[in-house]
Amino acid sequence: MSTFDAHDLDLNRIPAVVHDRLSGFLDSKDEDIAAIGTPVSDAVSYLRSFVLNGGKRIRPLYAWAGFVAAGGLEHSSEKIEAVLDAAASLEFIQACALIHDDIIDSSDTRRGAPTVHRAVEAYHREHSLEGSAAHFGESVSILAGDMALVWAEDMLQDSGLSAAALQRSRPAWRGMRTEVIGGQLLDIYLEAHANESVELANSVNRFKTAAYTIERPLHLGASIAGASPELIGALRNYGHDIGIAFQLRDDLLGVFGDPAITGKPAGDDLREGKRTVLLAKALERADRNSPAAAAAIRAGIGKVTQPADIAELAQLIRETGAEAEIEEMIANLTTSGLEHLETVTMPAEVKTLLRDLAIRSTERRM
Ligand code: IPE
Ligand code: IPE
Ligand code: MG
Ligand code: MG
Repeated sequence: MSTFDAHDLDLNRIPAVVHDRLSGFLDSKDEDIAAIGTPVSDAVSYLRSFVLNGGKRIRPLYAWAGFVAAGGLEHSSEKIEAVLDAAASLEFIQACALIHDDIIDSSDTRRGAPTVHRAVEAYHREHSLEGSAAHFGESVSILAGDMALVWAEDMLQDSGLSAAALQRSRPAWRGMRTEVIGGQLLDIYLEAHANESVELANSVNRFKTAAYTIERPLHLGASIAGASPELIGALRNYGHDIGIAFQLRDDLLGVFGDPAITGKPAGDDLREGKRTVLLAKALERADRNSPAAAAAIRAGIGKVTQPADIAELAQLIRETGAEAEIEEMIANLTTSGLEHLETVTMPAEVKTLLRDLAIRSTERRM
């Protein structure tokens, strides 16, 4: 593999570098996989396409940013390739989370393409295999997701980081994985209980998204570089706020977004019945101002399937004015997130980098 001049690695280059590291790692598994059998290679080919064909790479970007923020470029003796592999390994956790999430949410489309379980289901149909195609698609995808989670661990452990850096990375790595699974559980329990609490919906955003997408990746990168507890605290506080804002943006996009940008169908969240802060705020407002609209939203959420009904439900939510309230929350969280960076000393260019990433993640221009 090529060597890197770390100082040349600006943020814009990280996604391409991450892609190459992931590709190299997947190649390194080929032989072991083939030795088990062709079905394993076939299943892993879906994982490979999923991991290599898309994604904003936001978690590796933040892990890299955490490393840079902690002075990793100047003071760390860790090999840059090892740090990049540690950052890239987060994309395997993401692959597991998304492949499983799409089964949980019955989603057909992800990153502008069929979800893994739907692609495998189609393969089963095309080859007229035995049993239920849908069940086979889900079964293969559960295992492909498990493989991704295991390979995240392999990629980190075999990255070539020093034993001391691996040890320092433990709290972030440990926290992140439990939090994201916990957050997903909170999410589906709220859905099952038709939750209308803004507070509980916020708690989902904290664990399902903020911790796992921004707070812990920053924590991981900074720990690898040997950051002080003060710096880690400030970065985590930033990650908490920017991460929640990121999910609030995702929730707006999930109802009103352009599928060409999100890679997911418009209104998927409404079909699925996701209990977002946006929905909780819309219900609060409709209860105050328009009981008929509130009743219609409650009747439609999680039940609509036809595009016209989904569009109508989105319009009802829009008319409550909740969208503007969410935009205001995003703006406030972005401000408070950036303020946390002022509590510690940090080179001006690192602040610029974190500011740039915050804007990219909360405005979703990536
Ligand atoms: C999607 O994450 C799941 C959320 C936590 C919102 P991303 O929006 O980072 O998805 P990719 O990796 O870019 O596809
Ligand atoms: C996915 O959450 C979050 C994780 C996989 C951790 P969502 O279900 O809210 O996200 P999308 O809309 O499918 O990306
Ligand atoms: Mg989903
Ligand atoms: Mg989900």
